[in-house]
Amino acid sequence: MIGRLNHVAIVVPDLAVAAETYRTTLGATVSAPLDLPDHGVTTVFVELPNTKIELLHPLGEGSTIAKFLANNASGGIHHVCYEVEDILAARDKLKADGLRVLGDGEPKIGAHGKPVLFLHPKDLFGTLVEIEQV
Ligand code: CO
Repeated sequence: MIGRLNHVAIVVPDLAVAAETYRTTLGATVSAPLDLPDHGVTTVFVELPNTKIELLHPLGEGSTIAKFLANNASGGIHHVCYEVEDILAARDKLKADGLRVLGDGEPKIGAHGKPVLFLHPKDLFGTLVEIEQV
């Protein structure tokens, strides 16, 4: 059911430093920072030949990743995102198989303007998984 790895998201303590490290040290193509107030994050997209890395930093009060950063002061991998063709069909299959969908279970528009859902990390081996309809 799942398709390509769409992105890996990494929470970073300093977005400018992280973006510059990916640009100059790792030699990747890096976007300008983009504020996503609905998601409580500022993100920088790193384009790789076969996938993307999303550098995330908390934006505003009560950001969902603020606690993650508090617990991981130097940053860390936050989630992976797999592509699906039909997010509602995927959700229903995953729920039927006993996985927990976070939030109200309805897809939200993610960082790329496409519908996304998040799955409980305890149901997927300690990894927060996002699915995105492409
Ligand atoms: Co994501």
